[in-house]
Amino acid sequence: MRSDGDPAAARTLAEAVALTGRVDRATHGFHTYPASMNPDAARLVIDRFPGPVHDPFCGGGTVLVEALLAGRRASGSDLSWVATLVARARTADPALATPLRSRARKLAEAARRRVDHPLPEEILRWYEPHVAQELARLRAGIRAVAERPVRDLLWAVFSSIVVKTSFRESDTSNRRVPHHRPPGTTAVLFHKKARELGRMLEQLPAGAEARVRRGDARRAPPPPDTGLVLTSPPYPGVYDYLPMQQLRLLWMGEDLAGDARRAYVAEVGARRDFRARGRAAAFRRWREDTAAWIATQAGGLARGGALVVVVGDGLVGGRLVDALSPTVEAMRAAGLRVLARASADRPDHARGAIRTEHLVAAVRA
Ligand SMILES: C[S@@+](CC[C@H](N)C(=O)[O-])C[C@H]1O[C@@H](n2cnc3c(N)ncnc32)[C@H](O)[C@@H]1O
Repeated sequence: MRSDGDPAAARTLAEAVALTGRVDRATHGFHTYPASMNPDAARLVIDRFPGPVHDPFCGGGTVLVEALLAGRRASGSDLSWVATLVARARTADPALATPLRSRARKLAEAARRRVDHPLPEEILRWYEPHVAQELARLRAGIRAVAERPVRDLLWAVFSSIVVKTSFRESDTSNRRVPHHRPPGTTAVLFHKKARELGRMLEQLPAGAEARVRRGDARRAPPPPDTGLVLTSPPYPGVYDYLPMQQLRLLWMGEDLAGDARRAYVAEVGARRDFRARGRAAAFRRWREDTAAWIATQAGGLARGGALVVVVGDGLVGGRLVDALSPTVEAMRAAGLRVLARASADRPDHARGAIRTEHLVAAVRA
């Protein structure tokens, strides 16, 4: 652990960067999302910097949930439609919990009746036939729900079981593994997940709801008055966030995703970019993208507002890619004063390496 800068801010960042592991408070445990920020770390930073909170790479919405729990206004955006679906569901109005549960119960009952739906081969190959049919019946039921806010929550519940019920090993792996589910249990799982989300939503403050949009962080500024931009952008060359959601796109793309495929080119730091262009060219692009999103977010901050970034070094072809210096340089170039930073080493067991994660805070004068 290393930290420097303003002593009080550096202490908060050092405490936050040291936190790892799962936190199941409120809606955090609903739906998997890769590379989530630690909720306790987000909370420490939120408590230190006042004002409305914005996260332009909001992923599954960890920062937004913590901002709402801290009684703050919260907004977020992300390029990925799955991210915005999940972030909206995790920060939805708790009053929707009751209609969600009753709708989900009816849909689960209807999904047990034998009505077969035609499905494309690219979906069928990932499921046992009866599981694919239960999912198809649930999907048809959700499409027919008229109230948009409840329908979106039902889509998020559906999304939470799409990979779990398939032959895919996990969200982050496309490997095919054996999987057996007795008939009827997919609909039961859907109902169970909806009840779970309902219970979780009831732990959020009444009436609080985050504003979540799809958008490119390099272009979409935070709402006026934002006091804190707290975010964790993609680390260079570590994940392919958008293609990872391919199976969900096959099921729900038509209903929800809009131009999801076109968004692929705007993804920052994608692993596929490092493979296709080579390390040097892809890193150059990551630096330019970092400069662009930091300038856009810094430009939208209120006077005295803070930008706090969680960023980790990449690992490409077994070699580390430094993420800290381009981030600090971009903050300075955007006219911010760098306040403090803290860094901690994280073992990457899958790749047999140690990568460093950094928390950097800067303020607008
Ligand atoms: C490290 S994850 C964020 C995880 C989030 N902090 C959480 O707790 O769930 C990075 C996110 O950046 C998004 N992303 C990649 N390129 C983007 C861009 N140009 N604009 C906005 N979001 C982007 C990805 O879709 C992914 O959700």
